[in-house]
Amino acid sequence: MITVVGSINLDIVATGPHLPRPGETVTNARLARHPGGKGANQALAAKRLGAEVQLVGAVGADDMATEALHLLQEGAVELSNVSHINGETTGAALIAVSADGENQIVVCPGANNSLRPDDVDFLPIEHMMGVLEVPVPVLIAAMRRATGFVSLNLAPALPVPDELLAEADLISVNETEAAVYGDRLHASGAFVAVSLGAEGAVLWRGGKDIALAAPPKVHVVDTVGAGDTFTAALTVALLEGRAPDEALRFAVTAGALSCTRPGAQPSLPSRREVDALLATS
Ligand code: RIB
Repeated sequence: MITVVGSINLDIVATGPHLPRPGETVTNARLARHPGGKGANQALAAKRLGAEVQLVGAVGADDMATEALHLLQEGAVELSNVSHINGETTGAALIAVSADGENQIVVCPGANNSLRPDDVDFLPIEHMMGVLEVPVPVLIAAMRRATGFVSLNLAPALPVPDELLAEADLISVNETEAAVYGDRLHASGAFVAVSLGAEGAVLWRGGKDIALAAPPKVHVVDTVGAGDTFTAALTVALLEGRAPDEALRFAVTAGALSCTRPGAQPSLPSRREVDALLATS
């Protein structure tokens, strides 16, 4: 069982011709609302890829919570440790997507910031995944309880204590985040996965690159959630005992598939889709 400790958001998405520059108004965009949040996305991605998953998180006591949780419920992610916080709003992400699939995201954390170490202190945790859209003390408390593999997605890039990095078996970042953390990523000897967008991803261990994988060519519609899919798929594949290069190839293929459909959670691929694309590419 993987316990994901992470954020739950409702994504309010405007898909338009291009992304706005500071001070610019872009018009003629299409509006959509999708369940999102890095924690929730990774939980559902891992579940669709075949893992047993529970999510620890927090939403507000509002209508947005129902929308934010509905695909997790449909996907049978265990949600009994998601708190509903009175007086808080459910987390929301305001997302602009351009015609070529690039995005800009502003997150309003709301209830995600209410999560406390008490919310995990009583939980048995085997394998764990964590993201930085919830308070760091909760992640540290959960990582200490984990008896198995710990996967930490250092997104979004924030100042974090060394203690957090030291507890992880796998650290995943994109190129921008990798530049922020620098050599600290490699200090503990954990696997370090850096996603490189259309170039694929590289996997490091002990300061050495041990695998490189290019994604299959796909028609990109929307890259929101691609990093979450990549992290979840890599974690699931390593937990299944796959060799690092094979696990990385599985993860970039899953990430590429998630770019072919709009929305974070609606675009997460199933195990069957990933295996089928891997077999033909
Ligand atoms: O990684 C994508 C996610 O980041 C979106 O779903 C949004 O909610 C933000 O948390």
